[in-house]
Amino acid sequence: MSLTDASRARRLARPVAALGLGLVTCVTGFAAPAQAADAATLTGVILGVGADETQRMVTWYSSADTVQAAQIAPAAQVVNGEFPAGASSFSAVGGANIATSGGYNRHATLTGLAENTTYSYHVGSDGNWSKTYTFKTQDFDGEYDFLFLGDPQIGASGNVANDQAGWADTLDVATKANPDAEILVSGGDQVETANTESQWNAFLAPEQLRQVPYAATIGNHDVGGKAYEQHLATPNTDRSASYYVNGNPTSNTSGGDYWYMYKDVLFIDLNSNSYTSSSGGGGDEAHLSYVTDVITKHGADAKYKVLVYHHSIYSPASHAKDADNKVRRVDFPTTFSKLGVDLVLQGHDHAYTRSYLIKNGAKADADEQPGAADVYPGPGGVLYVTANSASGSKYYDITAPDNSGTSGAGNGPDPLDPTRYWYNSVQNQEHTRTYVKVKVRNDQLVVENIRSEANVGSTVDKVTVHPYHGEGQQIQVRVPKAAPGEFGWTIDGKNGLVDLGTAKDNDGKYLGATGSINPITVKDTRSSLSPWSISAAVGDFKDADKTFSGSFLGWTPAVATAGAGAKAGTAVESGLNGGEGLSVSRTLGQADPGHEKGEAKLAADLDLKIPSSVDQGSYRATLTITALSS
Ligand SMILES: [Fe+2]
Repeated sequence: MSLTDASRARRLARPVAALGLGLVTCVTGFAAPAQAADAATLTGVILGVGADETQRMVTWYSSADTVQAAQIAPAAQVVNGEFPAGASSFSAVGGANIATSGGYNRHATLTGLAENTTYSYHVGSDGNWSKTYTFKTQDFDGEYDFLFLGDPQIGASGNVANDQAGWADTLDVATKANPDAEILVSGGDQVETANTESQWNAFLAPEQLRQVPYAATIGNHDVGGKAYEQHLATPNTDRSASYYVNGNPTSNTSGGDYWYMYKDVLFIDLNSNSYTSSSGGGGDEAHLSYVTDVITKHGADAKYKVLVYHHSIYSPASHAKDADNKVRRVDFPTTFSKLGVDLVLQGHDHAYTRSYLIKNGAKADADEQPGAADVYPGPGGVLYVTANSASGSKYYDITAPDNSGTSGAGNGPDPLDPTRYWYNSVQNQEHTRTYVKVKVRNDQLVVENIRSEANVGSTVDKVTVHPYHGEGQQIQVRVPKAAPGEFGWTIDGKNGLVDLGTAKDNDGKYLGATGSINPITVKDTRSSLSPWSISAAVGDFKDADKTFSGSFLGWTPAVATAGAGAKAGTAVESGLNGGEGLSVSRTLGQADPGHEKGEAKLAADLDLKIPSSVDQGSYRATLTITALSS
């Protein structure tokens, strides 16, 4: 008997697998004593994302160059605005603002946050603290929602007050409708004029920006000054010359690429203003190196990979045919497909677009229908979304396709509806403010564009992305924090995640979870009637740097549909009490020499038993399937 070739193994194999969980952390903030009272005026406070769900960053302006900090404590311990003696203090860093901004900027990183806690915080120094603000943390693991907000561009209408009102109303409507949304992701262009502080003040006015972390994105209207960087500190930010449009980070310009991991979603945010090296920066090539590097280092820890940048490459309106966007449209997509990016969030064209799944710069599946409710990216399919204006300061009307082609840089028509661009499944412009809600689910990303005025809360578009799980089967089980929780199951027949749900305690002896693999169909119509077997082994279960052995997984194979002489393999017990379980290759099914021709469906019930000592988390493992025949 010999190994079949890869393509045969692939045909026979349909994957399985994994699970995940979160961990409890406690506040371990270090004390950085603030100095004596000073007269600094503290303004523009904004809460930002940190490097992961256990962190936040706070940024503000100060009128004086004094030693400052952010102080934080569980809200329950803050009485009448008085922080407890044990409050954590995080030293602020920063520098002098450019002359047109005046004053100084400060930011501090809050680390070691605990799950499911409401915190109070303020910034400044002893005797001169800002107002007290609050934010809450939620489970550090599992499903969550975030909101994506396009181009507030305060001042674009010519009336800052009107733009501020629209921005404030969208934030108000969106956060009231989604009180548990965990991040406000920016599509860029916070303001109309980069260094105009009155516009920044209007942008920063809504209280939600001190309550829900904001993930900043730089737009073309932000890039021409330092105010963007002064106001919006971001984590893991690479401020190398390559990520600045002019290659000069110390000039009066903002830039940098950054990334963060939030509850198993890897976000990478790019300064798309820099797209060509001819202006001095590293252009798209530098961004692609950055994205590749970050995904190579951290992609394996992520269940989803989301890119964010300002200049939409698949948009429907005024900027659709821009020469610079055509460059990006050629430069970006193939690498994004290759790297397994799930979702790209963009702005700039002030009109809503949801693309078809795009693979290597072309429509992945010619048969994907406009407005499809469910999409299946397979290997390399990427969904691109462009947000409309969140403030209503400016809208661009939809433009018509031309004859420049239906792939790559082309702006040609969609054969399924020639009024739309070839790359757009949905394009919409109602001159109505909207925001995009993204639901991060166990085995789905749900993207919904929602109106924040006129028919408030109504849906413009909604699509569910069903991620690709590769050629093996991915198995998932969620290990609960302490007490056992409820089970949840999702098996969709399209090689969806094999979700073992939340493991249940078994009299304190072990945590148990069960499920079934996605069935495997075996077809053998050869005249040789040669024997065959299908076997599989599972790797370790992992959640970031936590792991447990695949030997804890056992199974009971079965022939679900008889044929091709199929016989089920022998049941294998979990290795909880010794033994290797499915960590070594085991037979799922096989047929003896001279078997009948035909087709069989092989199934297996999975039985996971893990020690009660395994840390909470959402662990995944891959079941690798091997086909053997002579
Ligand atoms: Fe823009």
